[in-house]
Amino acid sequence: MSFANKIVLVTGASAGIGATTAVMFAKEGAKVVILGRNEANLKKTADEIKRIGSTPLVIKADVSKDEDAKRTIDNTIEKFGKLDVLINNAGVMRLGLLIDNSIIKTYDEMLNTNVRGMVNLTSLAAPHLIKTKGNIINISSIAGKIHFLPALNVYGMSKAAVSHFTRGAAMELSPLGVRVNTISPGLVGTELTIKAGVDIPIEEFSKKSLLGKYSSCEEVAELILYLASDKAKSVTGSNYFIDNGLTMGGED
Ligand SMILES: NC(=O)c1ccc[n+]([C@@H]2O[C@H](COP(=O)([O-])OP(=O)(O)OC[C@H]3O[C@@H](n4cnc5c(N)ncnc54)[C@H](OP(=O)(O)O)[C@@H]3O)[C@@H](O)[C@H]2O)c1
Repeated sequence: MSFANKIVLVTGASAGIGATTAVMFAKEGAKVVILGRNEANLKKTADEIKRIGSTPLVIKADVSKDEDAKRTIDNTIEKFGKLDVLINNAGVMRLGLLIDNSIIKTYDEMLNTNVRGMVNLTSLAAPHLIKTKGNIINISSIAGKIHFLPALNVYGMSKAAVSHFTRGAAMELSPLGVRVNTISPGLVGTELTIKAGVDIPIEEFSKKSLLGKYSSCEEVAELILYLASDKAKSVTGSNYFIDNGLTMGGED
C-alpha cells in the first residue's frame, strides 16, 4: 500500500494506536502530521518517524480546543499545501457513575475530546479533503455498541456518537468524493484503560473474546491503512470491528 505524496493527519499520535498508525503511514511513504498534547511523547513518535527517513509536522494541540483545531489544519496546509487523509483517533476514557454523580465530572472531557474535537476537525478539514478526494477514518470502539461496565456509560455514549456521526459525515461528503469510515476496536494493548483506572486487566477481559486475546496497535493500524488506501475505494459510511470476536459485530 503506497501513500507516496499523501499528506496524512493523525490525531492522538503521541501514544498507542495513533503513534503506531503515524509510523506505519510514514513507512508507506506518506508525509505525516502528528498531533497530541504531551510534547515528550510526541517527540518519541517523531523520532521513530525520522529514523525511517521522513520528517513529520509535529503539532502540540488539544483537539477539544477550537483554536487548536483551526491551527492544526492551517499549519498542515501552510506546510504541505494539501490534506489527503484525516485520522480522528485522539480519545480519552474516564469512569463515571450515576449513583454518586461522578458521571457528570467526566462528561465534558470525554464529549469535548472524543466527539466535539472530531466534529470540529472534520469540518475544518472537509474543504481540503474535497479538493484531494481524500478520506476520513474515525476511531470509535466496541463500547459504542455494547455496554460492558456501568462506569463506561458516557465513554460508550461518546463512541456511539462517533459511529453515528461518521455515517452522517459520509452522507454529506461521499457525493463530493470524500470517503468517511469508522473503525471500532475491541481491546487493544495500550495505556487507555490503565489511565482511566479500569481495574480489570486487559488479559483477563480479553479471555471473553472468541479468539481469547487482545489486539496490538499494529493490527489496528493495518486496518486503518487499508481503509485509507485506494484498495477501499468502494467503502464509505462503514464501521469495521476489530475485536477478536468479542462482540461479533455488535448487537443490532
Ligand atoms: N485501547 C483500546 O483498547 C481501545 C479500544 C477501542 C477504542 N480505542 C480508541 O482508540 C483511540 C486511541 O486510543 P489508545 O488506546 O491508543 O489510547 P492512548 O494510548 O491513551 O492514546 C490516546 C491518544 O489520544 C491523545 N489525546 C487524548 N486527549 C487528547 C486531546 N484532548 N487532544 C489531543 N490529543 C489527545 C493522547 O495524547 P496526549 O496525551 O499527548 O494528548 C494519545 O496520543 C481512542 O479514541 C480510544 O477511545 C481504544
